[in-house]
Amino acid sequence: MYDYLIVGSGLFGSIFAYEAGKKGKQCLVVEKRDHIGGNIYTKEVEGIQVHQYGAHIFHTSNREVWEYVQQFAEFNRYTNSPVANYKGEIYNLPFNMNTFNKLWGVVTPAEAKAKIEEQAAAYRTEHPANLEEQALNLVGKDIYEKLIKGYTEKQWGHRATELPPEIIKRLPVRYIYDNNYFNDIYQGIPIGGYTAMIEKMLAKAEVRLGVDYLEHKDELDALAEKIVYTGPIDAYYGYQFGELEYRSVSFETEVLDQPNYQGNAVVNYTEYEVPYTRIIEHKHFEFGTQDKTVISREYPAAWKKGDEPYYPVNNEKNNMLYHSYEKLAKEEKKVIFGGRLGTYKYMDMHHVVAEALRVTKEELI
Ligand code: FDA
Repeated sequence: MYDYLIVGSGLFGSIFAYEAGKKGKQCLVVEKRDHIGGNIYTKEVEGIQVHQYGAHIFHTSNREVWEYVQQFAEFNRYTNSPVANYKGEIYNLPFNMNTFNKLWGVVTPAEAKAKIEEQAAAYRTEHPANLEEQALNLVGKDIYEKLIKGYTEKQWGHRATELPPEIIKRLPVRYIYDNNYFNDIYQGIPIGGYTAMIEKMLAKAEVRLGVDYLEHKDELDALAEKIVYTGPIDAYYGYQFGELEYRSVSFETEVLDQPNYQGNAVVNYTEYEVPYTRIIEHKHFEFGTQDKTVISREYPAAWKKGDEPYYPVNNEKNNMLYHSYEKLAKEEKKVIFGGRLGTYKYMDMHHVVAEALRVTKEELI
């Protein structure tokens, strides 16, 4: 008999397995995919760690979380500094003095502020009716048209005039020459990839790949005292109240016979006519010098049952539905729900680490 049956070998399930193993608990991990790691899985191609489920950059200001992950990997000094490509013009992101200088030739923060104020003032309205009006209201025409409009429309699958203004609450602008996308204190990529990190976490557990827990629920439940479930919560309950919705994304990955395709790990394509939103060039996450390169084009996609669930759509309808499932989950004596799918919440990796540590502390006294 195992102490814990862990459903899902993503970051949440793997941390739980590691912490339980340290306390001498026996864990069986079942994973429906043919690999461990969940969405942070990286696969080596041409000596390059390819982020199979989208770019994953670890960043946090939580020192405990940062120190915790260091035991599983050494992190490099990668700093996310994406650039935007609008019809062949290149702009730095997030919006900062480098962006403003390129757009308007302004040099000082005061000049940049005055320019944005002048542009936004032309569209000032107290009650923006849609996302377009909201964005124009905040940053004016140039930034909106070159860097926001097309990208947002592709991401949501709707024109900006059809999207609610609340999607963009504020648009952070930085009046310093700093292209670092994240404001966190700590940032980096694990040298050797995320999969190697997960392997270390799962070293003491028994792992069975290609096993869908829900298809063998009764026989698997009988093997363990308790269950840690990190799959979709609505699927666990047989969708009895209805289905939770997600946004999906698809990736088109290609090996190119050249050492450097775009000179940066992340390039956003902000014009509507280019069908993908981003191209990731994986080697730049690790300062790779290989002869070849691997790129992934990222296409936002509508989601239907059976597709890979990526981003929960936390609108009122879905949140209410989730709360109905959550009520059932709270009554469970033998099952702990965790991770992004088990709690229907978008979580960055550092949130998952913090949450997994909180749950394990509570559970494994
Ligand atoms: P995860 O989904 O990884 O693991 C769940 C596992 O359970 C999966 O392996 C799944 O196959 C398995 N499973 C589900 N149902 C099952 C069943 N019935 N039987 C058996 N197994 C089952 N974060 C960040 O900090 N920096 C970043 O740059 C990014 N980038 C990013 C890009 C994209 C496109 C997305 C969608 C997300 C990010 N993230 C991120 C977030 C990051 O991916 C996320 O925090 C973790 O992967 C969540 O780990 P979990 O263990 O919760 O879920």
